[in-house]
Amino acid sequence: MVNYKVADESLADQGKEALYIAENKMPVTAKVIRERFQKEKPLKGITIAGCLHITKETGNLARTLKAGGAEVYLCGSNPLSTQDDVAAALTQEGINVFAWHGNTDEEFYWCIRQCLNAKPNILIDDGADMIVTAHQEYEDLIKSGTIMACQEETTTGVKRFKAMDSQGLLKVPLFPVNDARCKNQFDNELGTGQGIVSAIYGMHVLFAGKNVVIAGYGHCSSGMALRARGLGANVTVTEVDSIKALQAIFAGFSVKPIEDTLTYADIILTATGCKHVIPPKTELFDKLKDGVILGNLGHFDIEIPTKELYEYSKEIKPIRQNVEELIFPSGKKVYLLAKGRLANLVLSEGHPSEVMDMSFALQSLMSEYIVKNKDFLKPGMVDVPIDIDDKVGFLKLKSMGVEIDTLTEEQYNYIHGYEEGT
Ligand SMILES: NC(=O)c1ccc[n+]([C@@H]2O[C@H](COP(=O)([O-])OP(=O)(O)OC[C@H]3O[C@@H](n4cnc5c(N)ncnc54)[C@H](O)[C@@H]3O)[C@@H](O)[C@H]2O)c1
Repeated sequence: MVNYKVADESLADQGKEALYIAENKMPVTAKVIRERFQKEKPLKGITIAGCLHITKETGNLARTLKAGGAEVYLCGSNPLSTQDDVAAALTQEGINVFAWHGNTDEEFYWCIRQCLNAKPNILIDDGADMIVTAHQEYEDLIKSGTIMACQEETTTGVKRFKAMDSQGLLKVPLFPVNDARCKNQFDNELGTGQGIVSAIYGMHVLFAGKNVVIAGYGHCSSGMALRARGLGANVTVTEVDSIKALQAIFAGFSVKPIEDTLTYADIILTATGCKHVIPPKTELFDKLKDGVILGNLGHFDIEIPTKELYEYSKEIKPIRQNVEELIFPSGKKVYLLAKGRLANLVLSEGHPSEVMDMSFALQSLMSEYIVKNKDFLKPGMVDVPIDIDDKVGFLKLKSMGVEIDTLTEEQYNYIHGYEEGT
């Protein structure tokens, strides 16, 4: 019997179409790996719980895990990113889904608990909320060894687990899938990079000629800076890391402290994983240019000081779905995208299926790896094995019909030796 709670089951047919569109763009996850899983059933008898953005791409990950024999439970990793049609469609395919767009904090954790109540063996998290909840409320699942290992999909989640690990509090083997090359060099850079287009969906503005400020020059934000420039914007980058700031300068961007950009920025987009990137001070809010658009693509809604901006505004007017006009006491207007939550997921459909193919191929192969190696895994952070990362890269190239060279024995010995010199 399928367990679920979704917004509207009548959206299932629309969700099936969305899943179909994504499937065709995810040849590694939804074809090569799924077909092998279907035959070999490497996940037979295993329950997997995913706390992920419930999108058409995640739906295809769930289908692949199910094809491998797993019982799959899903809940959303963000209150506003669930695609209700996809959630409805998945329940008709035997996937247990507890997710709907716009859930409250209390409902968000209720959904997580429904997945943990299923006693999962593998947890796949995006932002760490499910695995942290397992540590706080489901210790028996950890102590009994029911949870074999966990996987984390995003940078903010990895940072939280590194902090737990350094304090000796991480009690499960944790694979930071985000840090694999096939994940953050493609999903974060290309996916979030293209995500700035969501800001255009939100406000329908022309980027060309605008002063766009990108906070951060990491994986996501450097991709965003590049795309904003490609659309013709004058881009300023803000950073706290000297090397990243230098990289931005040498890539041709202006670099400044955020406070120096407030008077001229037409659009400010954050993706740092930090909090209060725009400091929550009313005297700084007053410096913002009239009509500025504020959007965040980082994991949590605290990069832009959403709560303080709401408190300072004398009026908050929704002007289109998930876009609000905040009117300050002076009459100045500021446009906030997606209530400060991941603008690319809330205003649009999240990352394109092509890049999620690589992230979810990693999650699929890592689930198989965990089952095969469960007896050897120890609590703490464990890197994704390099051969799995390489394999996903190889399968992706193959699916694109691209061939590359292979090292000859002589070349291999040369680059691994020291003898040959001048
Ligand atoms: N929107 C999405 O779909 C999506 C996808 C992947 C990751 N993310 C999230 O985006 C965020 C960034 O991820 P990433 O992989 O780019 O991380 P990253 O570590 O590669 O980059 C973050 C950058 O921000 C800089 N930074 C930190 N605090 C800052 C501050 N106060 N002001 C200016 N710069 C600051 C850091 O020095 C770093 O260079 C995380 O929260 C991650 O979970 C979102």
